Amino acid sequence: MRVFVTRRLPGTALERLGAEHEVDVWPERLPPPREELARRLQTSEGLLSLLTDRVDAALIESSRGLRAIANYAVGVDNVDLEAASARGIPVGNTPGVLTESTADLALALMLGAARRLVEGDAFVRRGEWRTWEPALLLGRDLHGAAVGIVGYGRIGQAVARRLEGFGAQILHTSRSGGMPMQELLERSDFVSLHCPLTPETRGLVDDAALARMKPTSYLVNTARGPVVDTEALVRALHAGEIAGAALDVTDPEPLPGDHPLFDVPGLLLLPHIASSTHATRERMADMAVDNLLAGLSGEPMPNQVN
Ligand code: DGY
Repeated sequence: MRVFVTRRLPGTALERLGAEHEVDVWPERLPPPREELARRLQTSEGLLSLLTDRVDAALIESSRGLRAIANYAVGVDNVDLEAASARGIPVGNTPGVLTESTADLALALMLGAARRLVEGDAFVRRGEWRTWEPALLLGRDLHGAAVGIVGYGRIGQAVARRLEGFGAQILHTSRSGGMPMQELLERSDFVSLHCPLTPETRGLVDDAALARMKPTSYLVNTARGPVVDTEALVRALHAGEIAGAALDVTDPEPLPGDHPLFDVPGLLLLPHIASSTHATRERMADMAVDNLLAGLSGEPMPNQVN
């Protein structure tokens, strides 16, 4: 069968796929334009998609021969699962394997924002470091802090495990329990987002939520950009409603050069790299390929979401 893979992937997983199927890999750095994706899917039975590919109902509908979709991510908000299910197309994801890397980065973002790592680095490089100063780049402690984890699944719990070593007080809220979101916002020194993007979580951190947070607290997002209302965040940061934020994910992605987030001092921004370690991205490729191989041979995918 023919499989369209929308970007080159780290590791050797695609060789394994190529041993069984005809593999067409999009060679560019940027994602295939929508028309190109639709065109390639006219002649493909399998799709290995990335979170930057919008696999919506219209695309699924027009790809008449499509039999399996493997998304190279744990999040599947870019795929219309209902439309895929209606056509009997299995959709796979890559859970578990990126949990620890993502949790590592969440901790890095908490420390990075509260200890002002980016500002400190820029300060040294600008040649402004003249002497040791008692109040130079004062930050806030993660050790002993109250950390509110929004979404207490695999990644949220991995973050909590790390924070035990920091003597932090863990607060959490999720679909299945924990404390009310409002209480978590009011009590946390750090709020770290680990929920999937769904209609319920889109815009979850809005003006009202930010207003509930302490003026000394930090927001960390390694989940999905649209969980935060970006305009509200810009307003809250300029108004000093919260102390800072560190975002691995933003809305939109990537941020255009003139985006208002760039005018917020001390904001830490990363280009959606929480799972980006050699080992994790290679294992994600293996899982995506395992999903596709199973889906194309009509077997249940090892990690199927629909
Ligand atoms: C995911 O898997 O959903 C991440 O955002 C990318 O690894």
